[in-house]
Amino acid sequence: MPESSVVVRPVPVGSGDYSASARLQAAGLTQAIALFEEAARAIPIPPAPLPIVIADYGAANGHNSLLPINAAISALRKRTRPDQSVLVTHTDVPENDFSALFSTLREDPDSYLRHDQAAFSSAVGRSFYSQILPSNTVSLGWSSWSVLWLSRLPAPVTDHVHASFSADEETRAAHERLAARDWHEFVAYRGRELCPGGRVVVMTMAVAENGEFGYRPLFAALMAELAELVQREVISADELTGMCIPISGRRAVDFTTPFAPSGRLEQLTIEHLEVFDAEDRFWRQYQKDRDATAFGSQWASFLRAAVFQTLAGALDADLRAQFCDALESGVAARLADAPEQMQIPMAQVVLHKRPRVR
Ligand SMILES: C[S@@+](CC[C@H](N)C(=O)[O-])C[C@H]1O[C@@H](n2cnc3c(N)ncnc32)[C@H](O)[C@@H]1O
Repeated sequence: MPESSVVVRPVPVGSGDYSASARLQAAGLTQAIALFEEAARAIPIPPAPLPIVIADYGAANGHNSLLPINAAISALRKRTRPDQSVLVTHTDVPENDFSALFSTLREDPDSYLRHDQAAFSSAVGRSFYSQILPSNTVSLGWSSWSVLWLSRLPAPVTDHVHASFSADEETRAAHERLAARDWHEFVAYRGRELCPGGRVVVMTMAVAENGEFGYRPLFAALMAELAELVQREVISADELTGMCIPISGRRAVDFTTPFAPSGRLEQLTIEHLEVFDAEDRFWRQYQKDRDATAFGSQWASFLRAAVFQTLAGALDADLRAQFCDALESGVAARLADAPEQMQIPMAQVVLHKRPRVR
């Protein structure tokens, strides 16, 4: 599974342009944090000494979870005694680098463990497409840039690396069906885990109203460079055919389908749903400084962190590093040659588990 995405990853402490405000330029993050704070103000607080459980679904190395979790804890602290425990549970697939996660929690100056004496951390290494926490225990859930990953590859994509750009209708349909099923499963299991009154805030890739998946210049550069790597015999044509990125954006209606027609899935409802184009902050920077090389390398580095590991899975292990380096520099050069703004369709969804009416 890929590492945390650079589009949302905060600029690391110690890098030249680190600042709290740089962190908040991350695509869509500011609005999602506001929704998370609002949720923290609205949920019922379990009676002390029970802990308030916050779940972070698809945490990766945890960097991008720190600001939202701090914001939620601050909002909760206006409603609780300072000694009521908050238990944050970071979840990801078993292959995730949980050591990196725990190092982030120990070392990052923005770690909630440094800011709140009664905050505790834990982790779960299981797919969130099943129930992974006990029923009725989670007060607040957070998930950013994670439910875009499908639970498996539903069908090979032989004419592109992403199904939405495939010319084959059957292939596109197979990916859309699994995306729909995965969203249903994600929602249904969170519905069990949430306490009555609890909320989950989800930020993920979307498909715009006009059907646009986005990132067109990026995918164009990627496909052109992959073709070139075949020509240069860095990879074979068969290896390229085997490469596929099983991620999915969803249209607004895809998010609401599990709740149709009543607007409810068991006790769950959608409290907020917004599909929007997030800001391309690399483009904004390029407009200020006209540094095409930086623009190209920022997007190529994002792409590498997000999906190269998945693409390289089609290759022998000893070829992967060379392939990733060549692909990153090639994509960076292509984007630098003709910088173009990316469309980044995103969705923010707030799920609410309504208390049962007696
Ligand atoms: C792009 S990272 C996002 C990390 C972080 N939340 C952020 O906003 O930057 C996606 C994470 O979701 C995790 N993920 C993907 N599918 C998952 C699943 N079925 N269950 C749990 N985690 C999953 C990946 O392993 C990866 O760590």
